[in-house]
Amino acid sequence: MSRKLFVTTALPYANGNFHIGHIMEYIQADIWVRLQRMLGHEVNFVGADDTHGAPIMIAAEKAGKTPQQFVADIAAGRKPYLDGFHIAFDNWSSTDSPENHQLAKAIYLDLKAAGLISSKVIEQFFDPEKAMFLPDRFIKGECPKCGTKDQYGDNCESCGAVYAPTDLRNPYSTLSGAKPVLKSSEHFFFKLSDPRCVAFLEEWTQDGRLQPEVANKVKEWFTVRTNPDGSTSEGLGDWDISRDAPYFGIEIPDAPGKYFYVWLDAPVGYLASLKNLLDQRGQDFDAYMTDPQLEQYHFIGKDIVTFHTLFWPAMLKFSGRKTPDKIFVHGFLTVNNGEKMSKSRGTGLDPLKYLGLGMNPEWLRYYLAAKLSGRNEDIDFNADDFMARVNSDLVGKYVNIASRAAGFLAKRFGGKLGDISGDGDALLEHLRDASVNLAELLAEREYGKALREIMLLADRVNEYVDQNKPWELAKQEGMDSHLHDVCTVCIEAFRLLTIYLKPVLPALAAQVEAFLQVGPLQWSDAAKALGAGHTIGAYQHLMQRVDVKQLEALFEPPAPVGSAPTATESVAPGGEELAPTIGIDDFAKIDLRIAQIVNCEAVEGSTKLLRLTLDVGEGKTRNVFSGIASAYQPEDLVGKLTVMVANLAPRKMKFGVSEGMVLAASHGDEKVQPGIYVLNPWPGAQPGMRVR
Ligand code: MSP
Ligand code: ZN
Repeated sequence: MSRKLFVTTALPYANGNFHIGHIMEYIQADIWVRLQRMLGHEVNFVGADDTHGAPIMIAAEKAGKTPQQFVADIAAGRKPYLDGFHIAFDNWSSTDSPENHQLAKAIYLDLKAAGLISSKVIEQFFDPEKAMFLPDRFIKGECPKCGTKDQYGDNCESCGAVYAPTDLRNPYSTLSGAKPVLKSSEHFFFKLSDPRCVAFLEEWTQDGRLQPEVANKVKEWFTVRTNPDGSTSEGLGDWDISRDAPYFGIEIPDAPGKYFYVWLDAPVGYLASLKNLLDQRGQDFDAYMTDPQLEQYHFIGKDIVTFHTLFWPAMLKFSGRKTPDKIFVHGFLTVNNGEKMSKSRGTGLDPLKYLGLGMNPEWLRYYLAAKLSGRNEDIDFNADDFMARVNSDLVGKYVNIASRAAGFLAKRFGGKLGDISGDGDALLEHLRDASVNLAELLAEREYGKALREIMLLADRVNEYVDQNKPWELAKQEGMDSHLHDVCTVCIEAFRLLTIYLKPVLPALAAQVEAFLQVGPLQWSDAAKALGAGHTIGAYQHLMQRVDVKQLEALFEPPAPVGSAPTATESVAPGGEELAPTIGIDDFAKIDLRIAQIVNCEAVEGSTKLLRLTLDVGEGKTRNVFSGIASAYQPEDLVGKLTVMVANLAPRKMKFGVSEGMVLAASHGDEKVQPGIYVLNPWPGAQPGMRVR
């Protein structure tokens, strides 16, 4: 039966670009969503930017922007990451959207009506110069225990003491340097200590829906909690959900100058993004959410468990809404045994640099999947391990199977599949039998285990090929039908492995579907087989190996910025003066197009030129000669996208006619700086798109 699933990832703070930890979370969720879709289930998978709170407000001020403009600029940079790593959210919204304002207020009013909102006057540090209350992280001072200077308001980095900001000696505001003063103000609280909440949460968190290690941790919070001053109290405490103006957030109904604390409206953003999506489609959000069939899942990291296992379910429950079915908690990603990436610095592995180097996004998807399990465990990206797993498993074991059989099928049998004998049948049966277990492992997020199983299956197929030696059969008389049989088994085995890998490798699977000339593969296709007589397409190499040079470049620290020339110095950037100014009309005459390099070969008799076969989306290919032989191996360019001048008059050259020109960068003086760099568009561009 088809299930209805609503799936989210945590909403990233809109104060910086994605780092590799975010990408890991999205890949984990995306694989799961793709699996569910292949199983025939209906999924809505949404994300959004988490835009509110004091840190973003202050960052915006520093950048000289309104908070709205600041978060809009961050949002504008999201797409290349998501498209680049094949992360297929159905919608990406913002917690500052009208839907979120409306839903957060509605939920708050329902909680208030349920008698779960209280208010209390509390004293807090206030920056008299900035005229604002100071979140703890913006207060520093001397440790009350050991006297070390410049310590944050919660604990001392030197002696480890835990205390409240009010305990600091000589406190100062990191925003203005001013001495903060204590000021009192009314705050609103969500009464988590209410017996109704406690009873509900004790049941909800311990009924088996959470991972066991997460449930155990949560259990502790029902007995003791740590107060800001390091002391402990019994049971759940009430949750302070309001902040005073100035604050970038959602104003609390009937409480002028009071705003929801960012973590109150952040998870509501899950619902708001879904509502925004359903509204666009003309679907009824309330009807969708109240459908008893609906299942709701949140993928999150281990640092935000309290918000998702206490506050969020209680908010939903007592505002009369559906609570999540499961919270999937993952650990943190480190890079090359580095420390946990800091949220703001996000060092380690820059996702856009990875893509910019032409590294295949599916290498990363495969590698991270191979490391992930259903448990809340940290994982490490290790460059050597990455290269070994991608090259020997993914390319060496899986991709190779197709290349071992496709050539013979094309040359000897017109690309038509044949019949399958008993031997091959047993192998394929074994592969098909794995389908149920593999779907279960993937659904449990045991991706590492699933990929190990799939690679064992690939080993079996390669053993079969080694035993049957198609390359020898091809040379022997009268062995045609045996050769046909072996190659057919390989292709069918490759198809099955592709089904199992498709949630992890969606783009590769699409290439395979085109090669096999089949429609989009579903999980149930594992029970079927391509019949004898089915014709497959021409085989094109499906995936390159990782080159160690790419990894070196990926982890090379960015070059220090050179000293800028003074205003009087004339600069010839890149070794040549700028060409005379032109108007936009002049530029429009040049028709630049995205081209896919479908083939590339050396040109006999020329050390400079490569012969490129380009697909510019015209339904036919073009032949272009390019003077880039010194910089690229032909095979490294095959499959890549580039930019070409598509309306350049054809030019007859010694080696043939050149039907256009490929764009590449180089220094004006080769002796100063050698090197030619072919342009490569950001992920998502398609052959034929105009560049303007
Ligand atoms: N804005 C909050 C979440 C609100 S959800 C209603 C937040 N944002 S975040 O940008 O700091 O983190 C977003 C997600 O990325 C979280 O699930 C977090 O655990 C995850 N990760 C942040 N760093 C990570 C790693 N180094 N590794 C894996 N995931 C990490 O928290
Ligand atoms: Zn100290």
